[in-house]
Amino acid sequence: MKQILLGITGGIAAYKSAELIRLLRKDNYEVRVVMTQSALQFMTKLTLQALSGNPVHSELLDAGQENSMGHINLARWADSLLIAPASAHCIAKLSYGLADDLLSTLYLAAECPVYLAPAMNQSMWHKAITQTNIDRLKQQGVHIIGPESGSQACGEYGLGRMSEPEAIANYLNAQHTPTPLKHKKILITAGPTREALDPVRYITNRSSGKMGYALATQAKLMGAEVILVSGPTQLPIPHGVHLVAVESAADMHTAVMQHIQGQDIMIAAAAVADYTPTSIATEKIKKEGTHTELSLRKTKDIVADVANLNNKPFTVGFAAETHNLQHYAQDKLARKKLDMIAANWVGQAEGGFDSAVNALQVYWPNGSQSLPLTDKTQLAKQLLILIAEIYHAKNTA
Ligand code: C5P
Repeated sequence: MKQILLGITGGIAAYKSAELIRLLRKDNYEVRVVMTQSALQFMTKLTLQALSGNPVHSELLDAGQENSMGHINLARWADSLLIAPASAHCIAKLSYGLADDLLSTLYLAAECPVYLAPAMNQSMWHKAITQTNIDRLKQQGVHIIGPESGSQACGEYGLGRMSEPEAIANYLNAQHTPTPLKHKKILITAGPTREALDPVRYITNRSSGKMGYALATQAKLMGAEVILVSGPTQLPIPHGVHLVAVESAADMHTAVMQHIQGQDIMIAAAAVADYTPTSIATEKIKKEGTHTELSLRKTKDIVADVANLNNKPFTVGFAAETHNLQHYAQDKLARKKLDMIAANWVGQAEGGFDSAVNALQVYWPNGSQSLPLTDKTQLAKQLLILIAEIYHAKNTA
């Protein structure tokens, strides 16, 4: 288990530390928390102790704590030191090597990698002295995560917001994640499509986009440059990924063809509509009679068109099936000329569309592997490692 020391300084962003601890523990970190005196004004020790499962430290000279785990031992215990939020004051102190409280002393004593997630008012962030301090710390090998731009607690707008806990956790995980996709260009389709019937109605499906977005997030963490062509979803844009938002199957086809040149790998995780209305009514269709019929025509098969290109990328499709999984998946692999297909059961109690978990049976021309039921983040990691392996094998053959 990875051991992380989380330093919290005084700032309104300290409330995000609670979520950060939860995410870190989910990612298998043992977390010990150190709070400055001003952090104690924003969060209670009790909350963070309950979340981290460990006593929270705040005093440099505390006889009781020195007996259980002194500050030098605490610094030695950590595999990494993360300070989030890191206030302008804390950054200034660290950059000059001052050690007048527990956290700054730990920083000086620590020999492990150090990460700071700054959080402050945008004018404070832009002040020359703050930027000089940040540069000094960077030169000494400290990793700076963020800050982000956005509306601030003080009512102003600009750079200085602490990065979201998820982005911080992703950054740390990336330090421990293998990078088998380094510098590879990957285009991923995700989500459902919407096929308009008239100005207010459309046909769609239950895809949430979670699998495609998890693949985009993890591919980025594994070192890839990622383009995510996505139908409408409720999901946040994965950090560092280039999002191309589309609506219909035809829009998705156009966007993919515009971006496919030069891509090394394409993963088609979108649930693309197979049929679309033959025409879109310009006015709302009126309710008339007891029955009505829709006229639909087939959409273009995006992944098959990509697999037919000269210079085609390594092409991975998905197959969602309710029966005969292996037969239909292998048929699609051959018919669409794919390099790999990831098949899953849909319409079951667990897994598949609109679910946080899934299981996959993966086929390629001369092999197959099953990836058992797990959350979509873990599954995305495992599938990408498999894709990287078969992709590299094919390209070195
Ligand atoms: O033929 P079927 O729709 O079951 O194939 C599923 C795979 O094909 C998925 O990878 C899906 O993203 C892709 N697909 C596509 N364009 C379509 C239909 C499916 O890219 N019009």
